Amino acid sequence: MGCLSWKYQVLCLLSFLFHSTPSSFSSSLSSISPCSALLHFNHSLTLDLSASPSYYASRIQMCDNSYPKTASWKEDEDCCTWDGVVCDQTTRHVIGLDLSCSWLSGPIHSNSTLFFLPHLRTLNLAGNCFNVSLISSEFGNFKALTHLNLSYSCFIGKIPYEISHLSSLVSLDLSLNYGLLIETPVWKRVIHNLTQLRELLLDETNMSSIRPNSLMNLSSSFTTLSLNDCYLQGKLQNYILYLSGVQTLDLSYNHFSGLMPLSLLNLPNLSTLILDNNQLVSPLPNYVSGLLNLNVLSLRSNFLNGTLPSWLFNLPSLVRLNLYDNQFIGEIGEFKPNSLEYLDLSYNKLHGSIPRSLLNLPNLSTLTLDNNQLVGPLPNHISGLLNLNVLSLSSNFLNGTLPSWLFNLPSLVRLILYGNQFIGEIGEFKSNSLEYLDLGYNKLQGSIPRSISRFDSLIDLSLSSNNLSIMLESEMFSKLKNLNYLDFSNNLVSINNNVTYTLPKLEWLNLSSTNISEFPIFLKTATNLLYLDLSKNIINGQFPRWLGDVGKDSLYFLDLHDNLLQGPFPTLNFLSLEYLFVSNNKLTGEIPSLICNASSLYVLDLSHNNLSGMLPKCLVHSNFLSMLNLRMNSLHVLDLRMNSLHNTIPATFSTRNRFRNINLNGNQLEGPLPRSLANCRNLEVLDLGSNKINGTFPYWLDGLLNLRVLVIRSNKFQGRIGNPKTKSPFPNLRILDISNNEFNGPLPRKYFKYLKAMTNVEEGKVVLKYMGDGYYQDSINVMMKGLYIELVRIQTIFTTIDFSNNSFRGEMPKIIGRLKSLKGLNFSHNNLTGYIPSSFGNLSNLEWLDLSFNKLIGEIPRQLADIPWLAVLNLSHNQLTGHIPSGKQFNTFDNDSYIENLDYVDFHCQEHVTALRQRNHHH
Ligand SMILES: *[C@@H]1O[C@H](CO)[C@@H](O)[C@H](O)[C@H]1NC(C)=O
Ligand SMILES: *[C@@H]1O[C@H](CO)[C@@H](O)[C@H](O)[C@H]1NC(C)=O
Ligand SMILES: *[C@@H]1O[C@H](CO)[C@@H](O)[C@H](O)[C@H]1NC(C)=O
Ligand SMILES: *[C@@H]1O[C@H](CO)[C@@H](O)[C@H](O)[C@H]1NC(C)=O
Ligand SMILES: *[C@@H]1O[C@H](CO)[C@@H](O)[C@H](O)[C@H]1NC(C)=O
Ligand SMILES: *[C@@H]1O[C@H](CO)[C@@H](O)[C@H](O)[C@H]1NC(C)=O
Ligand SMILES: *[C@@H]1O[C@H](CO)[C@@H](O)[C@H](O)[C@H]1NC(C)=O
Repeated sequence: MGCLSWKYQVLCLLSFLFHSTPSSFSSSLSSISPCSALLHFNHSLTLDLSASPSYYASRIQMCDNSYPKTASWKEDEDCCTWDGVVCDQTTRHVIGLDLSCSWLSGPIHSNSTLFFLPHLRTLNLAGNCFNVSLISSEFGNFKALTHLNLSYSCFIGKIPYEISHLSSLVSLDLSLNYGLLIETPVWKRVIHNLTQLRELLLDETNMSSIRPNSLMNLSSSFTTLSLNDCYLQGKLQNYILYLSGVQTLDLSYNHFSGLMPLSLLNLPNLSTLILDNNQLVSPLPNYVSGLLNLNVLSLRSNFLNGTLPSWLFNLPSLVRLNLYDNQFIGEIGEFKPNSLEYLDLSYNKLHGSIPRSLLNLPNLSTLTLDNNQLVGPLPNHISGLLNLNVLSLSSNFLNGTLPSWLFNLPSLVRLILYGNQFIGEIGEFKSNSLEYLDLGYNKLQGSIPRSISRFDSLIDLSLSSNNLSIMLESEMFSKLKNLNYLDFSNNLVSINNNVTYTLPKLEWLNLSSTNISEFPIFLKTATNLLYLDLSKNIINGQFPRWLGDVGKDSLYFLDLHDNLLQGPFPTLNFLSLEYLFVSNNKLTGEIPSLICNASSLYVLDLSHNNLSGMLPKCLVHSNFLSMLNLRMNSLHVLDLRMNSLHNTIPATFSTRNRFRNINLNGNQLEGPLPRSLANCRNLEVLDLGSNKINGTFPYWLDGLLNLRVLVIRSNKFQGRIGNPKTKSPFPNLRILDISNNEFNGPLPRKYFKYLKAMTNVEEGKVVLKYMGDGYYQDSINVMMKGLYIELVRIQTIFTTIDFSNNSFRGEMPKIIGRLKSLKGLNFSHNNLTGYIPSSFGNLSNLEWLDLSFNKLIGEIPRQLADIPWLAVLNLSHNQLTGHIPSGKQFNTFDNDSYIENLDYVDFHCQEHVTALRQRNHHH
């Protein structure tokens, strides 16, 4: 076949294609040269680098060095010489085509001239992107094909039935197409008809309709079966029985459950077994036969348990062992010298010490034992680990000093030892290869090693929470041009700001609790910063002018709380800020209107300062016409408590606001509460205590389904509390404090009847949880057991009612006895009359009860003695008479609980001594 006639042939072909249907191709195949078919196939596609991105996963590595093979094809050369094309020496038929990772982009339709190559035996188009086209049924016409690889090449849809016509096929790889589906009839034909098949790879293909018992029909001559992430399910031990010849088996990321099939661990030829991310339970067997060729054993993220059998440590060919995230217990055994390169036993429950034999393995490059219960010191001497890249032993109970070999490992890139109990000093590193160093949460002391100053590859340096003394100065840090993450929090840091230097890649800086008294100078140029935490220090004086340039367009987190900063609010670049904490400083002046630019703000905490002026309207209001203000709705937490803000609360809470917590306690806000607060549908905490707010009880908030905390104590609210306006008022309310106001009239019986969260006791079921989200933990001031305290964390089950210091009159409704989750109840300093309802004895979670300074009469109900945790009781200053109940908690209360009442009789003592303890002085 000459080349001269090609142009004519292509023309001819085009007209043929135009006038014919695909099914009539085969009859005319012989008349079209394979070279022109190839050329036309190539012309039907475009070249695009992004069609062949590199891919790396545990077992598979693809398109590392992709290049466009067809770019070198020359029309006037014999196609048998073209890159990727193989011809039969004698017949000159094109028998092989390998265009893997060749940047090919575009669809392969069934009229493609690719299908004009009837003699193809091997076809590899992996690592291209055929524009999410279907796999054409024409692929079934390559009758001679033994190897077909269409993996990682953007095919979607059903795998065509015609694939099962490829009866010579030895290897079929359709994996990593992310949108393929195989249906039962096709699957059945493939495993029945393709009798020569030895390798089948369908990773990422949807096989959810395939019954896993069909796996039992796979031929015993299979060598490779890879069905990673195929939505398969069922009990694995029942299915994989006959694959006696298998070398590579990957069934990871499916839903296989049940026992780990022991037969798998006795396969003589097995070299790779990957069952990651299934739901296999059971221990590993104590004995296995074979496995002499096992290279890779990966069983991560299952529920395997029991101890690690000793054979695991003696497999002669093992290179990679991954048991991450299972439930293994017991000690790590002794290793026989072997070829292990990668070992991950992290996230199990292993205890005992790290065996020295493990640290002597010559080829080990990754050793990861994080999150176990390993104890003891690291050995002082080891041989081996010359190739170690990664050593990660975090979150164990390792102790003793850091041995010197740790600092001499020549290839170490990642050293992660946080969360142990190491003591002593950090040694000097010999090599400069480290990129990640995390020694946080230990008990290390001394200074930081000088050698760190040479680490120009260092990306992540975390020494948080030790007893180190660290000098932040130019000589040490100026060369760390790649440093991205720096955490020295909870150590002693001093700053030398005499010479400025830059850390151009720094994005995360945490110097919280380091006793620093000024802003580090290099921040001036840290324009890419995302996260800055300088909280809990003694930084004093005014804010530096350049603070607004720090992380100019990137900073989303700024925490300066608990410092001694003073003066007016800093000028910051608010555009990117999401979290701003400047609480517990000495800020004065007004909250600047610039804050209205903070359109992504999520948490604003300026509590405990001396800010004055008005609450900026933009914080609660948004104008839907403006995109900027629309995003203002992101504010979830507004904490401005303990300042000197005055005037009224802006009345314009918008309907789509996101507030979860509004805390304005301890200011001088006045006027009535805005009705638009009812627009805060996500509100969980509203604390407006200690202001000068007036008006009536905000019954219009009773439709807020998420409200858990309502505190309006110490204001000027007045009048009666009427009946609820909704059917189920305040369904989630657990803390209701309206004390120290001017409310009057009867206690609101109807509210008590419906407060749903207070009637349900679910403490048995509820795990200990605190209110808050992410970086912000809700806290409020409450009266607890007679003391006014700041509850820095609010347990979700904490439940109290405080109506004290008002002018409520009339009787206490019996129905209060239904509020069973109450821990505290305070009605003191009112004008309540009548008896103490015996139903109060049902308040089985009550820890404090204060009914003092009222006009209650009659006897103390016996039932109160049944309240198991009652620790503080105050019934003083009433007109009670009769017997004081005896027993249980009542034996712990002293006279102060009862003074200033009418006559009563104390049964404290077993002898039933009658004693008139006190007389009401008014009588
Ligand atoms: C091949 O088929 C596709 C889709 O059916 C069609 O869009 C295209 O025009 C056809 N090409 C030729 C050369 O006939
Ligand atoms: C597949 O096998 C069935 C019998 O199991 C046979 O009838 C059919 O012809 C075979 N198909 C091919 C394409 O080999
Ligand atoms: C392993 O887990 C299974 C299933 O949860 C349990 O029945 C078995 O007792 C466990 N075995 C060991 C040794 O912990
Ligand atoms: C290390 O821990 C082990 C057991 O947890 C303890 O016996 C030993 O005394 C500790 N050593 C040091 C140096 O703290
Ligand atoms: C910084 O410079 C000042 C004045 O030049 C000097 O007094 C001080 O000792 C220097 N601080 C350090 C830590 O070098
Ligand atoms: C509430 O307070 C505002 C401002 O302090 C005052 O003007 C108004 O009269 C008060 N309203 C009532 C009902 O006391
Ligand atoms: C209780 O009521 C009396 C009159 O009925 C009144 O003088 C007194 O101020 C009221 N006390 C309280 C605390 O409201």
